Amino acid sequence: MVSREIKTILFDAYGTLFDLASIDSALSELYGEKAQEIARIWRQKQLEYSWLRTLMGRYVDFYELTGDALAYALEAVGLESSSDGRKALMQEYYRLKAFPEVAGALSRMKGKFHLAILSNANPSLLERVVSFNGLDDLLEDFISADELHLYKPSPAIYQLPEKKLGLAPWNLLFVSANTWDVAGAAACGLQVAWAMREPAVPEKLGLKPDTIVKSLDELATLLER
Ligand code: 2OP
Repeated sequence: MVSREIKTILFDAYGTLFDLASIDSALSELYGEKAQEIARIWRQKQLEYSWLRTLMGRYVDFYELTGDALAYALEAVGLESSSDGRKALMQEYYRLKAFPEVAGALSRMKGKFHLAILSNANPSLLERVVSFNGLDDLLEDFISADELHLYKPSPAIYQLPEKKLGLAPWNLLFVSANTWDVAGAAACGLQVAWAMREPAVPEKLGLKPDTIVKSLDELATLLER
């Protein structure tokens, strides 16, 4: 259960607010039956590169890293690709669709809490996808890993909001659909809600969320009590 001392709710971006499946139709048009495998490898390699680059101390921003992961995914399925072709596909990251309940759920929470994003994505990626979905008035702050040239689950990323907002960890509720991200935030003492949008096995990292919800609507209802 989450405590009453929450002042700010921090949302992860991809998989939590925005649906990466929005890219599937563009991938299917371009790559047919290979689209699903490309999407899977692309997301996994994007995360792997964020972890590897952080461990190696070789940061590049999330847009560039995502483009590199796309190049890997296409080659991994035996496809040639040009940098222009990949650039065109990368535009889909600016047009990702928010999950259907997001706008309504954020509106319900906005009255009572300060709402922000805490994401690996660089600020321009966040600004454009938030505007594309008309969520500018609901999400007041974008806290980006780009500020530290580190990626989640580096503790420093989850400690950024405390420093920037002048709040204690227990005043912050972090919401993510990504199990590794849930563990990272829990390790830093934030209150954590796992938005388990689809069935997933909890990580075996000795860290648990304070609550599990199936949607942001369910979270809004929980927080209205
Ligand atoms: C994020 O938005 C990658 O979904 C992760 O930070």
